[in-house]
Amino acid sequence: MKNSSAVTSPPSLSLFLLFLLPFLAQSSDDLIDTICKATPFFDLCEASLRPLSPSPPDTKSIASAMANVVLGNMTDTLGYIQSLIRHSQDPAAERALAQCAEVYRPVVRFNIPQAIEAMGRGEFGFAMYVLGDAQKQSDSCQKWINSAGADDESSVPLTARNKLVKNLCDVAISVIKSLMNGR
Ligand SMILES: *[C@@H]1O[C@H](CO)[C@@H](O)[C@H](O)[C@H]1NC(C)=O
Repeated sequence: MKNSSAVTSPPSLSLFLLFLLPFLAQSSDDLIDTICKATPFFDLCEASLRPLSPSPPDTKSIASAMANVVLGNMTDTLGYIQSLIRHSQDPAAERALAQCAEVYRPVVRFNIPQAIEAMGRGEFGFAMYVLGDAQKQSDSCQKWINSAGADDESSVPLTARNKLVKNLCDVAISVIKSLMNGR
């Protein structure tokens, strides 16, 4: 019986993995906890990373998952700005919204996708720079909205979205810092 060991080893291997699995899942949860505690917005960090399945297994995948959450939110916000432009009756508000779309568009289409790619090559400094810039663009958008007096009821969701984008960028930058510090 030459291959008897080949027949018996797969079940014992899978049994071994079965026992190991909860420990792997546990340690990845703890990693998310540790990393989120180092960010300025723990709850937002957890809310962004916990629902991900499979759970990102290491700091590098957590960092790129977080950058993807930023991208998703900014893409969503750009779509929202475009829908506000279509329904706007006020020329000043419309101008401010058009300026917002203009700064959000390249960030969503080019900059953040490039940053995510760069992270794959280990260029974390570049990724942090891009996320910092994205944050500045959402700040500028908010200022235009405020000074156009467009901070009425209908644009409050944009104010909330700009703030969310800004905070998500903070979280993503902080995760990359953890990564660079070897955590
Ligand atoms: C934006 O970020 C929040 C918090 O992480 C998340 O719950 C939500 O699904 C994101 N939205 C999009 C469109 O990515």
